[in-house]
Amino acid sequence: MKEIKKPYIILSAAMTIDGKIASKMGDPDLSDEEDWREVHKLRTQMDAIMVGKGTILKDNPKLHIKYFKHKGYYRIIVDSTLSIPINSNVIDFKPEIYPTILCTTENAPLDKIKEFESKNVAVLKVGAKDQVDLKKLMLLLSKKGIKSILLEGGGNLNWSFIKDDLVDELRLTIAPWIIGGKEAISLIEGEGFDKMIQGRKFKLVKVSSRDNYVMLRYQRKNR
Ligand SMILES: NC(=O)c1ccc[n+]([C@@H]2O[C@H](COP(=O)([O-])OP(=O)(O)OC[C@H]3O[C@@H](n4cnc5c(N)ncnc54)[C@H](OP(=O)(O)O)[C@@H]3O)[C@@H](O)[C@H]2O)c1
Repeated sequence: MKEIKKPYIILSAAMTIDGKIASKMGDPDLSDEEDWREVHKLRTQMDAIMVGKGTILKDNPKLHIKYFKHKGYYRIIVDSTLSIPINSNVIDFKPEIYPTILCTTENAPLDKIKEFESKNVAVLKVGAKDQVDLKKLMLLLSKKGIKSILLEGGGNLNWSFIKDDLVDELRLTIAPWIIGGKEAISLIEGEGFDKMIQGRKFKLVKVSSRDNYVMLRYQRKNR
């Protein structure tokens, strides 16, 4: 495995027993209060939190920290065309505590870049292809002093991180539902690998359970 200098990436998600992170209608409500507390605790330990544009469009999350004292962190969003609404919660909610970095491509429209910059959002152009070049982005973020990132989905961004072999750790909560639906987003979307040998193998380091929920912690093997 080729080693690159990059932040430590923890992929965190709550999923159903059948591996869905939202229903086919986009309902993401599968965490209980205790699970949210755990996620927010983990957020306090990270330099940044990252999600894809799909999650912003569907859930409009604040990506903040409740329940615990904290020093804030960066919110990092990937959006190749800068099409998230300018009044999204990640732009307007407490930017002084959670500065937002919007990562896009060379193809992003200049007027959009200016619009976001006028709201003190840092816009990074990374890659000239259709989507943000995550390997390059990791190096840029590393240079900015970001040493750890909590990757909170969704399924398509998770796939790109797995494909590029950038994930160091998984923190998964299995919630006690089966929801089905091929349109329901899975933990990992994308085209997938052809053979198991190409897949990313992880080492199980912790299993715990409470109230019908199971928590799994894995680390990337051979890293
Ligand atoms: N249960 C949980 O823990 C949890 C956590 C998070 C999200 N979710 C759910 O996940 C769903 C959203 O997932 P999603 O898969 O639709 O969207 P997503 O993964 O949040 O965002 C994907 C989008 O990001 C943009 N992008 C830019 N560069 C990319 C790259 N290199 N690789 C991949 N994407 C890149 C692409 O749009 P452009 O090409 O247009 O830029 C892409 O369509 C929501 O329903 C949400 O509720 C659940």
